[in-house]
Amino acid sequence: ARKFFVGGNWKMNGTRKETDEIVAFLKAGPLDPNVEVVVGVPSINLTYAKSILPSTIAVSAQNCYKVEKGAYTGEISPAMLVDNQIPWVILGHSERRNVFGENDELIADKIAHALESGVKVIACIGEKLEEREAGKTEEVVFRQTKAIADKIKSWDNVVLAYEPVWAIGTGKTATPQQAQEVHDKLRAWLIKNVSQSVSDSLRIIYGGSVTAGNAQELAKEKDIDGFLVGGASLKPDFVKIINAKQ
Ligand code: 13P
Repeated sequence: ARKFFVGGNWKMNGTRKETDEIVAFLKAGPLDPNVEVVVGVPSINLTYAKSILPSTIAVSAQNCYKVEKGAYTGEISPAMLVDNQIPWVILGHSERRNVFGENDELIADKIAHALESGVKVIACIGEKLEEREAGKTEEVVFRQTKAIADKIKSWDNVVLAYEPVWAIGTGKTATPQQAQEVHDKLRAWLIKNVSQSVSDSLRIIYGGSVTAGNAQELAKEKDIDGFLVGGASLKPDFVKIINAKQ
């Protein structure tokens, strides 16, 4: 069975005081012990957040570069995450793709290097509205997944996050059926192009305007193994999302 996984992506949010407030409601919980919980924190506060969070909640970076060290002003490496005992990184988020111009190849290189360095990866994919409207959803998510599959040796330490770009920060959540359909197609793609066992064991989580109000219905779908939550992960409602799986 795939363990339910709920990630909070704080994006570029969180003073130390706000970090304290988020940690306080996470500590108050109570959180379903059968759910793996990870919070994605801005790099400057990674070690601070780690120092105050309960050990049952893991910390994730939101980006890292594709090599260990060197002349790459402004970047951090997975080796630095390991050195600071930060076990996870979010890579390929649509904001990295669309605001910062990261392409499939760079994202795949970053994912492969993070995994080789011992950092687990929340790998994000998802189509834009115009791509969905043009009937290209599958083509886009398969292309993004193939770029990753071509470069990594194992999917063991990967969680795949399907985040349709039109649903991110818009209040326009994919319906449970829309999300389930894409997750199901991704599993079929994995059977054909990777293996049956990866298709069976890989957690595929959904992201895009997940709230305490819609999480329960989404969690009922058989191929939705959790969530990647933006805005709502900054608020006490995040506890309800963590506990949404019945
Ligand atoms: P929202 O939950 O704010 O729509 O953001 C989703 C997201 O981008 C998570 O990575």
